[in-house]
Amino acid sequence: MKAIILSGGKGTRLRPLTHTNAKQLIPVANKPILYFVIEQILEAGITDIGVIISPETGARVREVVGSGERWDCSITYILQEKPLGLAHAVKTAAHFLGREPFLMFLGDNLIQGGVKHLVADFEETDIEAIIQLKEVKNPQQFGVAQLGYGEQVIRLMEKPKDPPSNLALVGVYLFKSQIFAAIEKITPSWRGELEITDAIQKLIDDGYRVKACQLQGWWLDTGKKDDILEANRVILDEYVCYQNLGFVDQDSVLAGRVEIGVGTKVINSRLRGPICIGKNVIIKDSFIGPYTTVGENSVLEHVGVEHSVVLENCRLYNVDRIEDSLIGYNTLVEKGVTRKNTVRLFVGDDSQVIV
Ligand code: G1P
Repeated sequence: MKAIILSGGKGTRLRPLTHTNAKQLIPVANKPILYFVIEQILEAGITDIGVIISPETGARVREVVGSGERWDCSITYILQEKPLGLAHAVKTAAHFLGREPFLMFLGDNLIQGGVKHLVADFEETDIEAIIQLKEVKNPQQFGVAQLGYGEQVIRLMEKPKDPPSNLALVGVYLFKSQIFAAIEKITPSWRGELEITDAIQKLIDDGYRVKACQLQGWWLDTGKKDDILEANRVILDEYVCYQNLGFVDQDSVLAGRVEIGVGTKVINSRLRGPICIGKNVIIKDSFIGPYTTVGENSVLEHVGVEHSVVLENCRLYNVDRIEDSLIGYNTLVEKGVTRKNTVRLFVGDDSQVIV
């Protein structure tokens, strides 16, 4: 079995971060989301992976992911010239996929527990497709499925105004080669895209069986700012362990699950986990509260930071309280006047903020 990861798109909802980076490369707990996706695929026993890239961010994705040596797997890049939809992306990957069954994973989605069981189920049955679903409060924003008897899918709609259920399509799909014929029969949707949702509906109309598997654990669709913070919270909760590879002076206090990277120095500061501090960071006279990630080469002095993501090469000085914030690469945040207000930020790469 093969897998494809969709790693194109413009990431408009995450601008300005995505002006300079692909949304799938935004790190959560200092690791690109795409790495988590690749590792979940490998856990399911699939080692032949195609990564669909766009002309805008493809080079950066290649540079960060490489050809698979890091994980001892094979990674093939497939260029999708234009963002013409998920079904169009599958069509673009036809040559790579051949006639083999395959897993399709959206590169900015993370699911709890991975895809191991789903893939094992699919390999054992003769069903033509399996989709993964999750109950959501806002089904209008997703592909939505209606189920019949058992876990049989009877209807699918993309972003319906009047959803037939609250079961959203999570970005994980399993297909056999019949999907290619179904894609040939569909036309672009109102948003000008060939929707995979419509292609699966075509499979159903043509008498093929599509089964649903409902996800009980968390699902993170990291396409927006609050989702990155939420992903950071969930991933720190689940994966971070106490590990200090840096230097912590005697005046500092570490509490809970705190991960500190190589070359990092913590001076006269309090760090309360779960938090993840990257390599070569300097933290001085500061408080770092739960659910915070600090990217490598950043400097934090006289600051309080909690429930936030600070990306690489940032400088944060003299701000009493930064909360619920996503701070882009190379950003300077500095307090100019003495006012004790909490600040909330969504600042892009190379920005400077004086508060
Ligand atoms: C896409 C799919 C949709 C699915 C969603 C999951 O939506 O078209 O069916 O529910 O991913 O993230 P898009 O991100 O293109 O709006």
